[in-house]
Amino acid sequence: MPRVVFILNGERRMFDVDLATMPYGHHGRPGSLLDVALNVGLALEHACGGNCACTTCHVIVKSGAEHLSELQELEADRLDTAWDLTPQSRLACQAIVSGDVECEIPSYTRNYVEEGGGIRLGRRA
Ligand code: FES
Repeated sequence: MPRVVFILNGERRMFDVDLATMPYGHHGRPGSLLDVALNVGLALEHACGGNCACTTCHVIVKSGAEHLSELQELEADRLDTAWDLTPQSRLACQAIVSGDVECEIPSYTRNYVEEGGGIRLGRRA
C-alpha cells in the first residue's frame, strides 16, 4: 500500500492509500496525486477540475518521483507557467501514483480560472 506524504506550510501529512479500492473523485486522472489528496480530505486546489488546464494543483516532488507516471508533453507545457517552478514540479492531477511519494504543496498558487485569464497569486491556507 503506497504511502503518500503531502507537505503543506511545513506540516507533513502522511497517508497509506489503497489505490485498488480508492474511489475515483472525478477530478484529475484516476489514482493521481490530486485524486489521492481529495480522497484523504486534503483540499488541494484544482481550479480546472483536474484537466491539465491550470497550475493550481502544482506540487514539488521531494521523493518517490519514480513512483509517479511519466511527465507528458501537455503537463510539461502547462507547468512552464507555474509559479515557483522547479525541476521536481508536477501537476498533481496528472501524476499517477504507483508507490511511496512525498510532495510539497507550494504556499502560493497561480490561478488563471478565477481571474478570467488573468493571473492571481493566492496564498494557500
Ligand atoms: S487542476 Fe488544473 S492543472 Fe491540475
